[in-house]
Amino acid sequence: MWTEDLSVNNAVIDNEHKELFALIDNFYKGIKDNSPRERLEELILGLVAYTKTHFANEEDHMRRMNYPNLKEHQMLHKEFIDKTQSYYERLKGGKLILSIEVTNFLKEWLVKHIKGTDQQYAAFESMSKV
Ligand code: FEO
Repeated sequence: MWTEDLSVNNAVIDNEHKELFALIDNFYKGIKDNSPRERLEELILGLVAYTKTHFANEEDHMRRMNYPNLKEHQMLHKEFIDKTQSYYERLKGGKLILSIEVTNFLKEWLVKHIKGTDQQYAAFESMSKV
């Protein structure tokens, strides 16, 4: 769940982060409720699609402020997309027994990423405005 300490001082991006947590929670609920595999595939595809949109928006935002660590940040985004996509592939191939661990990974990654990486550009942005 999104909490105030995860803010990057940008309402649009904060809302995108909130939506990501909501999508991860829906996926978690899907697993908990033993939803059919097709439904879980749909949920994770939705998460991948929205994550791509969010990352693209965020990268544009960093580009606009001439953020010096954009490349490193982009690499982390790519890793997350690859990982999430791999869950989908494995699910589709019937190879993955989905568990809460998968969802915990997504949630923990997101919290860690926002606190450790996204908030760095927020700090850069606020310093640049001074
Ligand atoms: Fe908000 Fe860098 O992801």
